[in-house]
Amino acid sequence: MRVLVSGGAGFIGSHTVVQLVAAGHDVVVVDSFVNAKPSVVARIEALTGQPLPLHAFDLTDRDKTEHLFSTEDIDAVIHFAGLKAVGESTERPLDYYENNLGTTFSLLRAMERHGVSRMVFSSSATVYGAQAPVPMHEDLPTSATNPYGWSKVMQEQVFRDVAAANPHWRIALLRYFNPVGAHPSGTMGEDPSDIPNNLMPYIAQVAVGRRDRLGVFGADYPTPDGTGVRDYIHVEDLAAGHIAALHRLTQVDDPVSVWNLGTGHGTSVLELLHAFERACGRELPYEILPRRPGDIAASYADPTRAHTELGWRAEKTVDDMCADTWRWQSQNPEGYPE
Ligand code: UD1
Repeated sequence: MRVLVSGGAGFIGSHTVVQLVAAGHDVVVVDSFVNAKPSVVARIEALTGQPLPLHAFDLTDRDKTEHLFSTEDIDAVIHFAGLKAVGESTERPLDYYENNLGTTFSLLRAMERHGVSRMVFSSSATVYGAQAPVPMHEDLPTSATNPYGWSKVMQEQVFRDVAAANPHWRIALLRYFNPVGAHPSGTMGEDPSDIPNNLMPYIAQVAVGRRDRLGVFGADYPTPDGTGVRDYIHVEDLAAGHIAALHRLTQVDDPVSVWNLGTGHGTSVLELLHAFERACGRELPYEILPRRPGDIAASYADPTRAHTELGWRAEKTVDDMCADTWRWQSQNPEGYPE
């Protein structure tokens, strides 16, 4: 298949592109590089051994998107492009709605015009909202607590309505739990442009000496050690889930499918910190801070449906996630070169 990957220079996108090429697909990437460095492209090419067809523009530009679909023969789209920082989304809600919904509108319009009906979408477990019981399964109601989360809920709704109006669509909504880890080669990984908001890249930057200590946001949750519990999933497992979903879309009858991509296992903040200490071989300083507003005590997936319907299951352990993240961070202390 010839697959257009939006946001293909990003953290999850880059790992998925490498696996798509390895699975024999032709890949075309579109990325605006607002949140990714162009030097990732050479790293992808080194791993695949092929030049990567690349279009550098913002998908909210409808004319450029239309031109892309007129000049490239696309069979399916994997749509990662989007803004993703929760805190920033509460300060700049319009940017989040305009960008995240706008890229989706633009892609759906072009796909409709060019008869492309297969779409795999980057959704998030954030759509289960703040009150969901664990483990979280796909039929729970959706809601959100911030503009980033609402933009995912809204995009899911747009996909459902578009598919209800035209049953030729085959759309996969993939709800990720907490993506972490890095390519086992150590050449690709997560490279936050600012102070990391998320736990794993923050720990990795403490380990490499870029930050003094980890702040643990709350040790008084109703969890075994009082710290927040999450379902961390290795980015390589997540990438494999996209390829399984893409293949499955050629066989399903339902216009819209929803699959959780998680391991089904919860890990606390302190458990992840200690696993990282084993990976990097030293103790890492931390302090307990107040809870972060908007956080929930525990989030982990019921991954049964993805296993049954996609034949996919996460294979890598928390120790694998930490070892690979440490290899990436220690070999690239400042992330990708400018
Ligand atoms: C966050 C977002 C979520 C988004 C996901 C993307 C919030 C409230 N949620 O999920 O919507 O889909 O990222 O990856 O931002 N922690 C610390 N210290 C830190 C950072 C985090 O103790 O410096 C704790 C958190 O309180 C939480 C756990 O680590 O218990 C994981 O946090 P994080 O990596 O930010 O992910 P989520 O909050 O689950």
